[in-house]
Amino acid sequence: MFKKVIAIMTASVLAASILVGCGGSTGASSSAPAEQKTEEAAPAEAAEPAAAEAAAATDGDLATKKVGVCIYQFSDNFMTLFRTELEKYLIEKGFAKENITIVDGANDQATQSGQIDSFIADGVDVLIINLVNSSSASTVTDKVVGANIPLVYINREPAADEQQRWADNNWNVCYVGCDARQSGTYQGEIIGDLGLDAVDFNKNGKIDYIMIKGDPENVDAQYRTEFSIKALTDAGFEVNKLDEQVGMWDQVKGAELVANSLSQYGNDIEVVFCNNDAMALGALQSIQSAGRKVGTDIYLVGVDALTEVVEYVISGDITGTVFNDHFAQSHNAADAAINYITGAGNEHNIQCDYKKVTKDNAQEILDSLK
Ligand code: GAL
Repeated sequence: MFKKVIAIMTASVLAASILVGCGGSTGASSSAPAEQKTEEAAPAEAAEPAAAEAAAATDGDLATKKVGVCIYQFSDNFMTLFRTELEKYLIEKGFAKENITIVDGANDQATQSGQIDSFIADGVDVLIINLVNSSSASTVTDKVVGANIPLVYINREPAADEQQRWADNNWNVCYVGCDARQSGTYQGEIIGDLGLDAVDFNKNGKIDYIMIKGDPENVDAQYRTEFSIKALTDAGFEVNKLDEQVGMWDQVKGAELVANSLSQYGNDIEVVFCNNDAMALGALQSIQSAGRKVGTDIYLVGVDALTEVVEYVISGDITGTVFNDHFAQSHNAADAAINYITGAGNEHNIQCDYKKVTKDNAQEILDSLK
């Protein structure tokens, strides 16, 4: 609350001084050096470009810049790691803690859109947005670009045609993330590398599995679902999907769904694929309650490399996971924000790699998480 009051006060003082300095501009315009640097970039009502001023910005100036960060849902385990690291790194880079405002979209697009409106009204210098619904990207982009504020999307990748629009219009908008296809492929490979003999407990010649999906609107969920199985079929395995359920990235839902599947399909389930680790943790609870044992009569994989899960990979209670590098992603997002503020600009799509985590390298990964 106190922080918010200070932030609002700082904002109004800053806005007032800028209005004086610029000889008056639209109240909604960013207090930032507005650095949509191309002619086509800024819609008519945007603040006058100040590319030269932006380009001259130095690290020292970052202390006065305001960053608005929208997270789709604070209770998400992975996004908690992400936002914590993002704030830490922004501060390391020279932003003032009180100028970084991170808000919880509570998994509701209307709530998040209202938060974006408030950030625009407050004249933030850059927005970092983890959309609730990827399909809202074009509306959000139009709004933020219209206010002449640079925009870095994180974690939920907008569609290719939306990204094409940023490039076509040369807007200061980019996406920072990892290619979810790679994470799915790695999950499939972790299982495939065990070999059919080890996995095919019921000896029907197939890998019998259940799939617990994240939010289906999200490409991470779509690609992990598709590519984990594709990796197996590409490697020549026959697969048999016993069940596919939506767990919305959530541990409790994951536990519930896997408990149901286990009671329905029993020992026929050989592999439990979860689109993320939170759901894999839930799955593990249900597997254990059903008297099954990972590595002995069932296999379980997730994605993210949450500390707890990596520890379970070491102990053998979870077969494997895939490291979703929140360090690289949050640092890339902050660096992209800085590049916009300083006028350096960015590519429209900035990627990093996932990493496979099995018993072989789990300790190393665990050490790197500390
Ligand atoms: C994924 C991550 C999930 C969840 C999701 C939210 O990349 O693996 O655990 O955080 O993002 O969009």
